[in-house]
Amino acid sequence: MSEEPKLCSIVPLMQAAEFASLRGHPSAIGAFNVNFYAQAQGILEGLYKAEAPGIIQASRGANKFQGGADKIQVMVLKAIKDMKITLPLALHLDHGDTKSAKDCVDNGFSSVMIDASKLDEIQNIEVTKEIVDYAHPKGVSVEGEYGKLAGVEEDVAYGKTTYADPRFVPVFFDRSKVDALAVAYGTSHGPNKGKTDALNVGIVTDSYAGIKANHQNLDHFLVGHGSSTVPRELVQEINQYGGSLKGTSGIPDYMIKAAIKEGIRKVNIDTDLRLGITATLRKYLNDHPDVDKKSEILSVIKKVFTGETPAKDKDGNPVDSGSLVDPRSYLEPVVKMDPQLLRENYRSFKDEAFIEVMTLVKNRIAEHVKSLAIMFGSAGLL
Ligand code: G3H
Ligand code: 13P
Ligand code: ZN
Repeated sequence: MSEEPKLCSIVPLMQAAEFASLRGHPSAIGAFNVNFYAQAQGILEGLYKAEAPGIIQASRGANKFQGGADKIQVMVLKAIKDMKITLPLALHLDHGDTKSAKDCVDNGFSSVMIDASKLDEIQNIEVTKEIVDYAHPKGVSVEGEYGKLAGVEEDVAYGKTTYADPRFVPVFFDRSKVDALAVAYGTSHGPNKGKTDALNVGIVTDSYAGIKANHQNLDHFLVGHGSSTVPRELVQEINQYGGSLKGTSGIPDYMIKAAIKEGIRKVNIDTDLRLGITATLRKYLNDHPDVDKKSEILSVIKKVFTGETPAKDKDGNPVDSGSLVDPRSYLEPVVKMDPQLLRENYRSFKDEAFIEVMTLVKNRIAEHVKSLAIMFGSAGLL
């Protein structure tokens, strides 16, 4: 493939999921967060194996980690090109603000999210509409957020969910002209999602009924954030090899399937990939105690896991090394060594151990993304 890969907006992808759902095959498009090259490759390989269209999304934190939206865009296009992937794919900004959303529109993202959910409904619509007016003329789709998810979301920590009011969802779509809307129905970000009692799939049912009654369902779509399943075996593996994750729980498969059946057309997954990456690295470092002698790159990562280099979160605040889940915490020293190391194809670096571990990371992610695409009903949806 010599020409540049083409990214599409998230609208035709979610439309395909809606058509399939209307034909009795409930479907949603998986949206997977990316921070570095092997992670992008893993997502792409998983989608390829499932023959599923998909959304690769980068948060503001991810853009900052890689040095800008332009860098992430080039990295993802490179991964698509290197792997000769021809699936319908979107590159989407996750939880953007006005500045980052405009920046991503200007830097080749095919879709952006503007998360103004901390504002009241009227202001939220106003801010969201400003991004729609900026993005739509350039063919870039827009996702908004209505209601507040519990847990940690970019720079905001919410105590508990403020559920979306389904009666207002068609109004939000109509006034903001947004293509997709994240509706808070009780899911939350991160690996500690609490009990399933908080989940109210009825909010999805009623929101979808409302948009259908208003004939909005073919071009307006509901999004489920905070949908990681938090596989127990990944948490066990992390803790077996030095981690200290406690009280973890995810969204059970049956709940995700129920939400898709009731009208969710985009499902966001970040934490599961973070857990897979962390488990893979922890196990590799444990199984190769002499790695420091073989790989300068893996040696700096190891120092964060052992606490020799103090671990920090994406905002630079100190975190306990046992609780590490966000790969950016232990990969930051690698970026400091050379930003290309996590942006370029790792196979081009003369570091056998680094190539080996990144390949394992890629495979781990691919396996999970494939199984999620099957669970979401997007496998084979080409
Ligand atoms: O909103 C949550 C996503 O998992 C993105 O997280 O802002 O730490 O990259 P992040
Ligand atoms: P998780 O933390 O459940 O993976 O949620 C991801 C998400 O909603 C990204 O926007
Ligand atoms: Zn989210």
